[in-house]
Amino acid sequence: MNPHGGRLVSRVSERDTSGMEELVISDDLANDVENIADGIFSPLEGFLGGADFEAVVSGGRLAGGAAWTVPIVLDLDEERARRAKEAGEVLLRNPSGSCRAVMKVEETFGFDKKKMSEGVYGTSDPAHPGVARTESMKPVLAGGKITLVGRPGQDGLRAHRLRPEQTRAAFEKAGWKSVCAFQTRNPPHVAHEMLQKAAITTRDGVFVNPLIGRKKPGDFADPVIVAAYEEMIRHYYPADRCMMATLHTEMRYAGPKEAIHHAIMRQNYGCTHIIIGRDHAGVGSYYDPFAAHRIFGQYPELGIEPVFFPAFFYCRRCLTFTNPRACPHEDEREQISGTKLRELLQAGEAPSEYILRPEVARVIMSSPEPFVK
Ligand code: ADX
Repeated sequence: MNPHGGRLVSRVSERDTSGMEELVISDDLANDVENIADGIFSPLEGFLGGADFEAVVSGGRLAGGAAWTVPIVLDLDEERARRAKEAGEVLLRNPSGSCRAVMKVEETFGFDKKKMSEGVYGTSDPAHPGVARTESMKPVLAGGKITLVGRPGQDGLRAHRLRPEQTRAAFEKAGWKSVCAFQTRNPPHVAHEMLQKAAITTRDGVFVNPLIGRKKPGDFADPVIVAAYEEMIRHYYPADRCMMATLHTEMRYAGPKEAIHHAIMRQNYGCTHIIIGRDHAGVGSYYDPFAAHRIFGQYPELGIEPVFFPAFFYCRRCLTFTNPRACPHEDEREQISGTKLRELLQAGEAPSEYILRPEVARVIMSSPEPFVK
């Protein structure tokens, strides 16, 4: 599978950066610097400049026409933006200094937050977590190419992080020609597992790729997601049909726009397919549950192929996981809302085995901090 844009971007090098103007960036931004450098965001080579930013927000494409739906931007206050522009080249580093990258500051520009929110999230309601995040951004964006010169060690959850060249090599080694990606921000529900298993029944393997990074309060915490998946894979998968690696970037809750972004990143990892189910990357009731299916019609050129699924649930009459296209028993469905599931788990009650595998429920219930605060 060709990377998006035809070439896997690699912007990593060794360089003496002594004396360079330093800009401390958040760990979230540092994650994205690394994603750019490793080609997870191919064809991006840096933070978006003004023309690309406008084109992404208003049309879901880079200025040159390539599909791109979520702006990858560096926001700065006015003073820091002025200093960066003057310096021309700056050393970006996260607070601990473990991630470092040289950025060529090609331009700095102001932007319209409301327009960005409406373009990306389809709303400017501040109750939407993506809109709230946009509203909290600094007023100036700096665009320009980056080169990674130092990265954090592979400890903690980062031990699961793989670069696209590594995932591509792993798929090849496994002999997988068709690889179906699974994006997630949750521990595996049985419905998730069944979507994955339905997809790989006619494909070689599934690449489970939980998103690790900033999420909204009430979402599951990253360590729980990873530990739960390890248990699920150990107990319920043939050893050679499922691989997991973490993707370290923010959850944006941009529904359909984020579905395209998710697909592009998984194409860059070398996946041939991606599962897009009900309300992909959704939050509250901001998106039609199947808008994330329809948007792919606007991007027929994408190399990765979406595998669309309707809502999955267990039916007590059909005695199987099924969906409304195949099952008429509206009153026999095992379903649970995210809020209800959270309440049950917080009360120390394991949900039905048709909702959550007992091994997964145990991981969650034994965690001191299963949810993002
Ligand atoms: S997401 O924000 O990462 O999309 P989640 O981890 O819950 O949230 O979903 C991962 C993938 O599974 C998405 O493609 C989503 O649409 C799909 N999905 C989750 N639950 C169901 C379900 N019950 N039926 C169909 N698809 C589902």
